[in-house]
Amino acid sequence: MEVRAKVLASVAAVALILLSVQPTLARNPDEKGTAAQKDAAKYVGADVCKTCHEEIYKKHFELTPHFQTMLEGGHGCESCHGPGSAHVEGGGDITKIIRFSTLSTQEATARCLSCHGNGLQQRHFAASAHASNDVGCLNCHSPHYAKEPNHLLVQAQPGLCYGCHVSAKADFARPYHHRVDEGLLFCTDCHNVHGTTTVRQVRTIPTGDAICVKCHAEKEGPFVYEHVPVKTEGCVSCHTPHGSNNPRYLRVSQVNLLCLQCHTFPVQGPQGPAHNQAAKYQACTMCHTQIHGSNASNVFFR
Ligand code: HEC
Ligand code: HEC
Ligand code: HEC
Ligand code: HEC
Ligand code: HEC
Ligand code: HEC
Ligand code: HEC
Ligand code: HEC
Ligand code: HEC
Ligand code: HEC
Repeated sequence: MEVRAKVLASVAAVALILLSVQPTLARNPDEKGTAAQKDAAKYVGADVCKTCHEEIYKKHFELTPHFQTMLEGGHGCESCHGPGSAHVEGGGDITKIIRFSTLSTQEATARCLSCHGNGLQQRHFAASAHASNDVGCLNCHSPHYAKEPNHLLVQAQPGLCYGCHVSAKADFARPYHHRVDEGLLFCTDCHNVHGTTTVRQVRTIPTGDAICVKCHAEKEGPFVYEHVPVKTEGCVSCHTPHGSNNPRYLRVSQVNLLCLQCHTFPVQGPQGPAHNQAAKYQACTMCHTQIHGSNASNVFFR
């Protein structure tokens, strides 16, 4: 209502400003437009929008990172909403301005990617599990009404993610878990939700190794004696990444059962007394302590 009341008062002012507006250098592919009626429209500049949408301008734009779209001849509001002259001349005709509420997920995302598409983090978005399942930028971000100002998120992590990923919520509620719910780690420490070239949108470190060794560097090696699966099958062949009912986030409840998934017993190992099924031998890592690799022992004793 407030907006409507301001319309009349603003029309005169707007007309004046419009006269003084120079055709601005276009920095975005907006010229192509997304609908016929918007093709004819020209850029009027954010100061014009501000005359009627002062609250959005002041509270939900000026203080956000997108105020940078005003710099260097950028189009501010119109870099997302398209050229606005027809909308303004129509006294705020909503059919003559791009409204995100009327766009498909893909259309809205494409507008964001016109600027962010080359970003290091976002450049694989089109092929991501999220994009392929009709999840777009606005499922997680809101330029004007972010609840979590950091990165303009509609909700803070992990709640944002749990809204759609119920089983992850259950994983992190297990007795042994990475402390994501407690705020020590973020889902996005391990995942790039904008898409990766790896499966499950899991991040890697620059060498291409699993993200795990960014924090657990001592497990990375290289070791003189590698335990083969650490390198070939990765950490998640023995650990669950989110959480587990077993200590050390192991996939199975007893260490010997884990080892015996790959090692036949007692055929492998020293013949005779060293290995048998007696309880003494069940805690394999009591003797094979350096299970991730060793520089001193080919059987990982030290
Ligand atoms: C002359 C006053 C006026 C000016 C100037 C103006 N608008 Fe509007 N705008 C309105 C009115 C009135 C509405 C109707 C909806 C409402 O109540 O917010 C509207 C609606 C909109 C909507 C759709 C809102 C919705 O509910 O989906 C967008 C987006 C918008 N304006 C963007 C802009 C942008 C960007 C500019 C600058 C190019 C601009 N407006 C300039 C008056 C104006
Ligand atoms: C980075 C892109 C972007 C910029 C820049 C931007 N908007 Fe928006 N605008 C959106 C999106 C997306 C929405 C949908 C609501 C949301 O997710 O925040 C929206 C919604 C709106 C609405 C709909 C009404 C409402 O309250 O939801 C209006 C009006 C509007 N914007 C006006 C403006 C004005 C005025 C400016 C400049 C001061 C501006 N926008 C700058 C992307 C942008
Ligand atoms: C006209 C170019 C442009 C468009 C279109 C655009 N952005 Fe931005 N965006 C920027 C700039 C510039 C910044 C501030 C610099 C930065 O953080 O990269 C920014 C910042 C952001 C940030 C905050 C980054 C941070 O580190 O906090 C998010 C999130 C974001 N944009 C999402 C979006 C979404 C979602 C859309 C589509 C509705 C969109 N942007 C459309 C240019 C744009
Ligand atoms: C599934 C939720 C989700 C979707 C979908 C999503 N984002 Fe994000 N985005 C996040 C989260 C969470 C962060 C903060 C953590 C991070 O940087 O990974 C973030 C960070 C960002 C940042 C700042 C980090 C940086 O340096 O790049 C930008 C910019 C951004 N997103 C833009 C976009 C754009 C554009 C889209 C659509 C093409 C998009 N996001 C889709 C959740 C999402
Ligand atoms: C709007 C719902 C929605 C939100 C919010 C969301 N996701 Fe997703 N996510 C999906 C859908 C749908 C898929 C594809 C189907 C699937 O694998 O579950 C997906 C896929 C994924 C995948 C890849 C799974 C695979 O099997 O390849 C990861 C990882 C992921 N999301 C993490 C996150 C994280 C982290 C967040 C929070 C920052 C998040 N998602 C927020 C809906 C969402
Ligand atoms: C410590 C790193 C790490 C953290 C933190 C993390 N993930 Fe994962 N996540 C992974 C890895 C690694 C995989 C792949 C597992 C595999 O390949 O078996 C994965 C798999 C997934 C999948 C695919 C389905 C599944 O369960 O295997 C989804 C969805 C997912 N994560 C969502 C999330 C969400 C949501 C959060 C935060 C609440 C989160 N992840 C936090 C490392 C992590
Ligand atoms: C962003 C840093 C970070 C990343 C990435 C990370 N972790 Fe962790 N991890 C931690 C922290 C911190 C703890 C200690 C948690 C606690 O004390 O609650 C931990 C604990 C663990 C533990 C249990 C340690 C114990 O003594 O019980 C295992 C196992 C583990 N991580 C494996 C992994 C695997 C596998 C990956 C990759 C999928 C991974 N981590 C990725 C930070 C990280
Ligand atoms: C062959 C199975 C296997 C693989 C592969 C594996 N781990 Fe482990 N990990 C274990 C076992 C078994 C333990 C428990 C050792 C114990 O009980 O003393 C463990 C313990 C841990 C611990 C907690 C105790 C400690 O030594 O700090 C962390 C952290 C850990 N692993 C991280 C990783 C990371 C990171 C990777 C991938 C680089 C990885 N693990 C790969 C079997 C494995
Ligand atoms: C995912 C499969 C896998 C799991 C689980 C696994 N290993 Fe291995 N391990 C291997 C492979 C492959 C080698 C390389 C030698 C081979 O082919 O036997 C190896 C080598 C070894 C060696 C070095 C001796 C040799 O033959 O080269 C020891 C000792 C060993 N593992 C102990 C363990 C213990 C103890 C566990 C349980 C904590 C375990 N392994 C779990 C696959 C596995
Ligand atoms: C009481 C100590 C002890 C325990 C417990 C133990 N081992 Fe061993 N293991 C040894 C000794 C000693 C060797 C021979 C070392 C050597 O050859 O120098 C060995 C060697 C091995 C080898 C290498 C065999 C080869 O062909 O070179 C494997 C694989 C192995 N153990 C697996 C296991 C598994 C799996 C478990 C748990 C079910 C286990 N060990 C428990 C003492 C132990």
